[in-house]
Amino acid sequence: MTETGNSKDSDQDLRQVPDTPIKSSLSIALIGPDDDRRKALLSVLSECPGARTQEFSAFPPDLDELPRTVGEQYDIVILDVDSDPDYVFDLVERICTTSAACVMVYSAESDVKQAVRFMRAGAREYFTLPVIAAEVASAIARAAAHPLTAPAPTAKLASQAFVFLGAKGGCGVTSIAANFAMLVAQESKQPTLLIDFGQPLGDAGINLGMASANYSTANALQDPSRLDARFLSSLVEKHVSGLSVLAAPGDFPSSQPTLEGIDRLLEVARQSFSYVVVDAGTRIDLMESTLFDESSTVYLVTQVGISELRNSNRLINRFFSLRLRSLQIVLNRYTPKALLFDDTQIAKALTRPANWKIPDDYATARRTENTGTPIALDNSPISIAIRQMARAACGLSEEKKKKSFSFFKK
Ligand SMILES: Nc1ncnc2c1ncn2[C@@H]1O[C@H](COP(=O)(O)OP(=O)(O)OP(=O)(O)O)[C@@H](O)[C@H]1O
Ligand SMILES: [Mg+2]
Repeated sequence: MTETGNSKDSDQDLRQVPDTPIKSSLSIALIGPDDDRRKALLSVLSECPGARTQEFSAFPPDLDELPRTVGEQYDIVILDVDSDPDYVFDLVERICTTSAACVMVYSAESDVKQAVRFMRAGAREYFTLPVIAAEVASAIARAAAHPLTAPAPTAKLASQAFVFLGAKGGCGVTSIAANFAMLVAQESKQPTLLIDFGQPLGDAGINLGMASANYSTANALQDPSRLDARFLSSLVEKHVSGLSVLAAPGDFPSSQPTLEGIDRLLEVARQSFSYVVVDAGTRIDLMESTLFDESSTVYLVTQVGISELRNSNRLINRFFSLRLRSLQIVLNRYTPKALLFDDTQIAKALTRPANWKIPDDYATARRTENTGTPIALDNSPISIAIRQMARAACGLSEEKKKKSFSFFKK
């Protein structure tokens, strides 16, 4: 850590953020691994009257622990986007939803789309390098003049939504989403809900060996104005794993739910459950709903086949090109040796490498289907892969060494 203003300390990382707040009129945490870029900002900040800046040369290694501390201890947090845009985006979101700190970011890229994206996540300023001293000074003055108030605990979206979308019918969305949901419930021990939007007749419950449900999404969506936490809890079925399941209708629905209804269902679900997993099948007609908001993580399930990869390419370019970690690409039925395409060609079609590869395992899929046992209960390569996905999704690293966010950059 280095501090401008009155004192100077040796380098430290964010784990050593002091417990007591820094006494100054305006405290600033300047966080960026790139020394040149950070120093460029620092030299400008040191000229801002009343501002006292502490430098950090590393990002916090754990999203869950540090943003709150940083956000509570500093009036302003300034982050270097370019070192790891994906991770910094998550940091910005997390700090903004858990504290009153004013977050600003800086980048060498004058990329308007990226700037808008960070502003939507809560950043108040997006500085482009080389910074203009007067701009930074007036941004700091504005932050001092209009401090933010801490978000009310209820304003924070406490829960996370994981939405599974297939690039094509039959890609394995339901098998993966249902077992993923069950494993999230088991591993996290937190209230978890699986919502089945599969069409025409969803079969997520069947994948978990559940009997047909008494109620379904049709009941929840019939009159969205009536839908609240109590009503939702009366509609869900409980799986032996502890997972709650809101089934798809058992018969062909006579009417289609409105997007408003789906938004309301997700809102109520997120208020009641820590994790909400959605089997969206191939329903790109729901793309305008909040299911696909930036706050959800979308798992695009695809396979190595010409039409699946072509569809994935179209979907990613059309809907998800700006998403980084909130888009997770899952290659199902992956058998490296028997593929038409190599990993480079696949990554080109997907515009990036796949995040997850689920092996092709016909015998396990068939056996679990025939016996009505969830794949997740079978100690198979498929279940091992889905468990890894589930643990990563709820912030449980596989092992200590896997804790870093580079886990996602396979
Ligand atoms: N990794 C895998 N290895 C072998 N078989 C698999 C794998 N994943 C899924 N399957 C099998 O593929 C079939 C289709 O899977 P699933 O129903 O999950 O796909 P879906 O994308 O939900 O299909 P739909 O478009 O009909 O909703 C099922 O019989 C399932 O058991
Ligand atoms: Mg399905």
